[in-house]
Amino acid sequence: MQDLNGKTAVVTGAGSGIGRAIAHALAKAGMNVVVADLNADTAATVAAEVEALGTQALAVQANVADHGSVAAMADAAYGRFGSVEVLVNNAGVSWRPLRPLTDATLADWKFMFDVNVWGVINGLDVFLPRMKAQPGEKHIVNTASMAGVWPVKGHTPYSASKYAVVGISEGIVNDIGDEGFGCTVLCPAMVRTNVVANSESQRPAGEKGEGRVFKEMVDERMKKLVDEYIDAAAVGEMVRDAIQRNQLYLHTHAIAPEDIAARTDLVYGPASYGRA
Ligand SMILES: NC(=O)c1ccc[n+]([C@@H]2O[C@H](COP(=O)([O-])OP(=O)(O)OC[C@H]3O[C@@H](n4cnc5c(N)ncnc54)[C@H](O)[C@@H]3O)[C@@H](O)[C@H]2O)c1
Repeated sequence: MQDLNGKTAVVTGAGSGIGRAIAHALAKAGMNVVVADLNADTAATVAAEVEALGTQALAVQANVADHGSVAAMADAAYGRFGSVEVLVNNAGVSWRPLRPLTDATLADWKFMFDVNVWGVINGLDVFLPRMKAQPGEKHIVNTASMAGVWPVKGHTPYSASKYAVVGISEGIVNDIGDEGFGCTVLCPAMVRTNVVANSESQRPAGEKGEGRVFKEMVDERMKKLVDEYIDAAAVGEMVRDAIQRNQLYLHTHAIAPEDIAARTDLVYGPASYGRA
Protein backbone atom coordinates (compact mmCIF):
# COMPACT_ATOMS: atom_id res chain seq x y z
CA MET A 1 0.00 0.00 0.00
CA GLN A 2 2.13 2.84 -1.30
CA ASP A 3 -0.09 5.77 -0.46
CA LEU A 4 -1.07 5.92 3.22
CA ASN A 5 -2.10 9.55 3.25
CA GLY A 6 -5.67 10.14 4.48
CA LYS A 7 -6.26 6.46 5.25
CA THR A 8 -7.02 4.99 8.68
CA ALA A 9 -4.98 2.65 10.87
CA VAL A 10 -6.04 0.85 14.04
CA VAL A 11 -3.07 0.08 16.29
CA THR A 12 -3.50 -2.07 19.39
CA GLY A 13 -1.09 -1.73 22.29
CA ALA A 14 -0.45 1.76 20.95
CA GLY A 15 -0.13 3.37 24.37
CA SER A 16 3.51 2.35 24.74
CA GLY A 17 6.65 1.10 23.04
CA ILE A 18 6.43 -0.37 19.56
CA GLY A 19 2.71 0.32 19.10
CA ARG A 20 3.19 3.97 20.01
CA ALA A 21 6.10 4.21 17.55
CA ILE A 22 3.98 2.61 14.80
CA ALA A 23 1.19 5.11 15.53
CA HIS A 24 3.69 7.98 15.21
CA ALA A 25 5.21 6.67 11.97
CA LEU A 26 1.81 6.11 10.34
CA ALA A 27 0.62 9.57 11.44
CA LYS A 28 3.74 11.10 9.88
CA ALA A 29 2.72 9.37 6.63
CA GLY A 30 -0.65 11.12 6.88
CA MET A 31 -2.78 8.35 8.36
CA ASN A 32 -5.54 8.85 10.89
CA VAL A 33 -4.90 6.54 13.81
CA VAL A 34 -7.14 4.70 16.24
CA VAL A 35 -4.89 4.45 19.30
CA ALA A 36 -6.11 1.41 21.24
CA ASP A 37 -4.72 0.20 24.53
CA LEU A 38 -5.77 -1.55 27.71
CA ASN A 39 -4.52 1.57 29.47
CA ALA A 40 -6.94 4.45 28.74
CA ASP A 41 -4.52 7.12 29.97
CA THR A 42 -1.62 6.13 27.73
CA ALA A 43 -4.01 5.71 24.77
CA ALA A 44 -5.21 9.30 25.31
CA THR A 45 -1.64 10.59 25.59
CA VAL A 46 -0.54 8.91 22.37
CA ALA A 47 -3.70 10.06 20.56
CA ALA A 48 -2.74 13.64 21.50
CA GLU A 49 0.79 13.00 20.17
CA VAL A 50 -0.68 11.74 16.88
CA GLU A 51 -2.87 14.83 16.54
CA ALA A 52 0.17 17.01 17.21
CA LEU A 53 1.67 15.39 14.09
CA GLY A 54 -1.20 16.82 12.05
CA THR A 55 -3.63 13.93 11.54
CA GLN A 56 -6.74 12.78 13.38
CA ALA A 57 -6.68 10.31 16.24
CA LEU A 58 -9.19 8.41 18.31
CA ALA A 59 -8.17 7.00 21.69
CA VAL A 60 -9.93 3.75 22.60
CA GLN A 61 -9.60 1.75 25.78
CA ALA A 62 -9.73 -1.88 24.62
CA ASN A 63 -8.68 -5.30 25.84
CA VAL A 64 -7.63 -7.38 22.83
CA ALA A 65 -8.18 -10.60 24.80
CA ASP A 66 -11.88 -9.75 25.04
CA HIS A 67 -13.85 -10.19 21.80
CA GLY A 68 -16.61 -7.81 22.93
CA SER A 69 -14.09 -5.11 23.71
CA VAL A 70 -12.45 -5.51 20.27
CA ALA A 71 -15.89 -5.37 18.60
CA ALA A 72 -16.64 -2.11 20.45
CA MET A 73 -13.28 -0.75 19.29
CA ALA A 74 -14.17 -1.55 15.68
CA ASP A 75 -17.55 0.15 16.05
CA ALA A 76 -15.78 3.24 17.41
CA ALA A 77 -13.19 3.18 14.60
CA TYR A 78 -15.72 2.78 11.78
CA GLY A 79 -18.09 5.25 13.46
CA ARG A 80 -15.41 7.91 13.47
CA PHE A 81 -13.49 7.25 10.23
CA GLY A 82 -15.82 5.12 8.04
CA SER A 83 -13.10 2.71 6.89
CA VAL A 84 -9.97 1.00 8.21
CA GLU A 85 -7.19 0.28 5.71
CA VAL A 86 -4.47 -0.86 8.12
CA LEU A 87 -4.97 -3.05 11.19
CA VAL A 88 -1.98 -3.47 13.48
CA ASN A 89 -2.46 -6.33 15.97
CA ASN A 90 0.45 -5.34 18.17
CA ALA A 91 -0.64 -5.64 21.81
CA GLY A 92 1.28 -8.36 23.59
CA VAL A 93 2.78 -9.48 26.86
CA SER A 94 6.23 -10.83 27.64
CA TRP A 95 7.48 -13.85 29.58
CA ARG A 96 9.62 -13.33 32.64
CA PRO A 97 11.57 -14.71 34.33
CA LEU A 98 12.99 -16.98 31.65
CA ARG A 99 12.44 -20.50 32.94
CA PRO A 100 11.76 -24.06 31.77
CA LEU A 101 8.26 -24.99 30.65
CA THR A 102 8.00 -27.25 33.69
CA ASP A 103 7.95 -23.99 35.69
CA ALA A 104 4.95 -22.64 33.75
CA THR A 105 1.48 -23.05 35.23
CA LEU A 106 -1.63 -23.43 33.12
CA ALA A 107 -2.51 -19.87 34.18
CA ASP A 108 0.86 -18.70 32.78
CA TRP A 109 0.11 -20.37 29.44
CA LYS A 110 -3.40 -18.97 29.39
CA PHE A 111 -2.20 -15.42 30.05
CA MET A 112 0.27 -15.65 27.15
CA PHE A 113 -2.25 -17.12 24.72
CA ASP A 114 -5.19 -14.91 25.75
CA VAL A 115 -3.33 -11.74 24.84
CA ASN A 116 -0.71 -12.78 22.26
CA VAL A 117 -2.80 -15.22 20.21
CA TRP A 118 -6.46 -14.52 20.95
CA GLY A 119 -5.72 -10.80 20.75
CA VAL A 120 -4.75 -11.31 17.10
CA ILE A 121 -7.61 -13.73 16.38
CA ASN A 122 -10.17 -11.35 17.93
CA GLY A 123 -8.78 -8.50 15.84
CA LEU A 124 -9.04 -10.52 12.64
CA ASP A 125 -12.47 -11.93 13.44
CA VAL A 126 -13.90 -8.47 14.07
CA PHE A 127 -12.11 -6.42 11.43
CA LEU A 128 -11.61 -8.72 8.43
CA PRO A 129 -15.28 -8.92 7.36
CA ARG A 130 -15.61 -5.15 7.51
CA MET A 131 -12.29 -4.55 5.78
CA LYS A 132 -13.17 -7.12 3.07
CA ALA A 133 -16.34 -5.17 2.32
CA GLN A 134 -14.27 -2.05 1.58
CA PRO A 135 -12.85 -1.43 -1.88
CA GLY A 136 -9.12 -0.99 -2.38
CA GLU A 137 -5.99 -2.31 -0.71
CA LYS A 138 -5.88 -3.38 2.91
CA HIS A 139 -2.95 -4.37 5.11
CA ILE A 140 -2.67 -6.33 8.37
CA VAL A 141 0.39 -6.06 10.61
CA ASN A 142 0.77 -8.69 13.33
CA THR A 143 3.49 -8.28 15.93
CA ALA A 144 5.17 -11.63 16.58
CA SER A 145 8.79 -11.82 17.75
CA MET A 146 12.13 -13.29 16.79
CA ALA A 147 10.90 -15.96 19.25
CA GLY A 148 8.17 -16.74 16.70
CA VAL A 149 10.65 -18.03 14.13
CA TRP A 150 12.96 -19.96 16.44
CA PRO A 151 12.04 -21.11 19.93
CA VAL A 152 13.96 -19.18 22.57
CA LYS A 153 15.25 -21.26 25.48
CA GLY A 154 13.37 -20.58 28.71
CA HIS A 155 10.68 -18.73 26.76
CA THR A 156 8.49 -21.61 25.57
CA PRO A 157 4.93 -20.33 26.25
CA TYR A 158 5.84 -16.96 24.73
CA SER A 159 7.59 -18.55 21.72
CA ALA A 160 4.63 -20.88 21.15
CA SER A 161 2.23 -17.91 21.20
CA LYS A 162 4.35 -15.99 18.69
CA TYR A 163 4.70 -19.06 16.43
CA ALA A 164 0.91 -18.99 16.20
CA VAL A 165 1.05 -15.33 15.14
CA VAL A 166 3.57 -16.16 12.40
CA GLY A 167 1.37 -19.00 11.13
CA ILE A 168 -1.70 -16.79 11.08
CA SER A 169 0.21 -14.09 9.20
CA GLU A 170 1.38 -16.37 6.39
CA GLY A 171 -2.19 -17.68 6.33
CA ILE A 172 -3.54 -14.20 5.64
CA VAL A 173 -1.40 -13.91 2.52
CA ASN A 174 -2.15 -17.48 1.43
CA ASP A 175 -5.89 -17.26 1.97
CA ILE A 176 -6.92 -13.68 1.22
CA GLY A 177 -3.88 -12.17 -0.46
CA ASP A 178 -5.80 -12.24 -3.72
CA GLU A 179 -8.64 -10.28 -2.13
CA GLY A 180 -6.64 -7.10 -1.64
CA PHE A 181 -4.97 -7.99 1.68
CA GLY A 182 -1.28 -7.59 2.35
CA CYS A 183 0.28 -8.73 5.61
CA THR A 184 3.43 -7.99 7.56
CA VAL A 185 4.57 -10.10 10.48
CA LEU A 186 6.83 -8.01 12.65
CA CYS A 187 9.52 -10.10 14.39
CA PRO A 188 11.29 -7.76 16.80
CA ALA A 189 14.33 -8.81 18.78
CA MET A 190 15.67 -6.29 21.31
CA VAL A 191 13.63 -3.09 21.42
CA ARG A 192 13.75 -0.62 24.34
CA THR A 193 10.20 -0.57 25.76
CA ASN A 194 8.42 -1.09 29.07
CA VAL A 195 7.14 -4.50 28.03
CA VAL A 196 8.37 -6.41 31.07
CA ALA A 197 6.91 -3.97 33.64
CA ASN A 198 3.68 -3.54 31.65
CA SER A 199 3.23 -7.29 31.33
CA GLU A 200 3.85 -7.91 35.01
CA SER A 201 1.31 -5.26 35.97
CA GLN A 202 -1.30 -7.14 33.91
CA ARG A 203 -0.49 -10.63 35.10
CA PRO A 204 -3.37 -11.86 37.25
CA ALA A 205 -2.83 -11.53 41.02
CA GLY A 206 -1.52 -14.77 42.45
CA GLU A 207 0.18 -15.56 39.12
CA LYS A 208 3.15 -13.22 39.45
CA GLY A 209 5.50 -15.97 40.59
CA GLU A 210 4.94 -15.25 44.28
CA GLY A 211 6.63 -17.91 46.36
CA ARG A 212 7.79 -19.83 43.30
CA VAL A 213 11.48 -20.52 42.77
CA PHE A 214 12.47 -20.82 39.13
CA LYS A 215 15.44 -22.50 37.49
CA GLU A 216 17.16 -19.66 35.64
CA MET A 217 17.69 -20.18 31.89
CA VAL A 218 19.82 -18.28 29.42
CA ASP A 219 19.42 -18.49 25.65
CA GLU A 220 22.81 -18.24 23.98
CA ARG A 221 21.45 -16.72 20.76
CA MET A 222 19.53 -14.08 22.71
CA LYS A 223 22.64 -13.32 24.77
CA LYS A 224 24.46 -12.34 21.57
CA LEU A 225 21.87 -9.58 21.04
CA VAL A 226 21.92 -7.96 24.49
CA ASP A 227 24.13 -5.10 23.30
CA GLU A 228 21.90 -4.48 20.30
CA TYR A 229 18.85 -2.83 21.86
CA ILE A 230 17.26 -0.34 19.47
CA ASP A 231 14.72 2.44 20.01
CA ALA A 232 11.07 1.70 19.27
CA ALA A 233 10.96 4.73 16.95
CA ALA A 234 13.18 2.88 14.46
CA VAL A 235 10.76 -0.06 14.48
CA GLY A 236 7.82 2.25 13.76
CA GLU A 237 9.58 3.48 10.62
CA MET A 238 10.41 -0.10 9.58
CA VAL A 239 6.74 -1.08 9.89
CA ARG A 240 5.57 1.89 7.81
CA ASP A 241 8.10 0.97 5.08
CA ALA A 242 7.04 -2.69 5.19
CA ILE A 243 3.39 -1.75 4.71
CA GLN A 244 4.34 0.40 1.73
CA ARG A 245 6.48 -2.41 0.24
CA ASN A 246 3.94 -5.13 1.11
CA GLN A 247 6.73 -7.02 2.88
CA LEU A 248 5.67 -10.20 4.69
CA TYR A 249 8.49 -10.89 7.17
CA LEU A 250 9.99 -7.95 9.03
CA HIS A 251 12.95 -8.69 11.30
CA THR A 252 14.41 -5.85 13.34
CA HIS A 253 17.78 -7.55 13.90
CA ALA A 254 20.07 -9.63 11.75
CA ILE A 255 20.42 -13.20 12.99
CA ALA A 256 23.95 -14.62 12.74
CA PRO A 257 24.36 -16.75 9.57
CA GLU A 258 25.64 -19.71 11.63
CA ASP A 259 22.45 -19.61 13.72
CA ILE A 260 20.28 -19.55 10.58
CA ALA A 261 22.27 -22.46 9.15
CA ALA A 262 21.92 -24.42 12.41
CA ARG A 263 18.18 -23.81 12.47
CA THR A 264 17.72 -24.81 8.84
CA ASP A 265 19.75 -27.94 9.49
CA LEU A 266 17.64 -28.80 12.56
CA VAL A 267 14.35 -28.44 10.68
CA TYR A 268 15.27 -29.60 7.17
CA GLY A 269 18.72 -31.20 7.53
CA PRO A 270 19.38 -34.81 6.45
CA ALA A 271 18.73 -36.09 10.01
CA SER A 272 15.18 -34.72 10.01
CA TYR A 273 13.69 -37.09 7.40
CA GLY A 274 12.06 -40.48 7.83
CA ARG A 275 14.27 -43.39 6.79
CA ALA A 276 11.68 -45.49 5.00
N1 LIG B 1 10.25 -4.95 23.10
C1 LIG B 1 10.76 -5.99 22.51
O1 LIG B 1 11.99 -6.17 22.50
C2 LIG B 1 9.88 -6.98 21.80
C3 LIG B 1 10.50 -8.10 21.21
C4 LIG B 1 9.71 -9.02 20.55
C5 LIG B 1 8.35 -8.82 20.46
N2 LIG B 1 7.76 -7.75 21.05
C6 LIG B 1 6.32 -7.60 20.91
O2 LIG B 1 6.01 -6.28 20.56
C7 LIG B 1 4.68 -5.98 20.97
C8 LIG B 1 4.67 -4.64 21.68
O3 LIG B 1 5.47 -4.75 22.83
P1 LIG B 1 6.31 -3.54 23.44
O4 LIG B 1 7.67 -4.04 23.65
O5 LIG B 1 6.08 -2.30 22.69
O6 LIG B 1 5.63 -3.48 24.89
P2 LIG B 1 4.92 -2.31 25.72
O7 LIG B 1 4.51 -2.93 27.00
O8 LIG B 1 5.79 -1.11 25.76
O9 LIG B 1 3.63 -1.99 24.84
C9 LIG B 1 2.59 -2.93 24.77
C10 LIG B 1 1.28 -2.22 24.99
O10 LIG B 1 0.24 -3.19 24.84
C11 LIG B 1 -0.73 -2.93 25.83
N3 LIG B 1 -1.47 -4.16 26.10
C12 LIG B 1 -1.04 -5.26 26.75
N4 LIG B 1 -2.02 -6.15 26.86
C13 LIG B 1 -3.10 -5.62 26.24
C14 LIG B 1 -4.41 -6.07 26.01
N5 LIG B 1 -4.84 -7.24 26.51
N6 LIG B 1 -5.25 -5.28 25.30
C15 LIG B 1 -4.83 -4.09 24.83
N7 LIG B 1 -3.61 -3.59 25.04
C16 LIG B 1 -2.75 -4.36 25.74
C17 LIG B 1 0.04 -2.44 27.05
O11 LIG B 1 -0.80 -1.68 27.92
C18 LIG B 1 1.12 -1.60 26.39
O12 LIG B 1 0.73 -0.25 26.28
C19 LIG B 1 4.23 -7.16 21.83
O13 LIG B 1 3.39 -8.01 21.04
C20 LIG B 1 5.52 -7.86 22.18
O14 LIG B 1 5.34 -9.24 22.40
C21 LIG B 1 8.51 -6.82 21.72
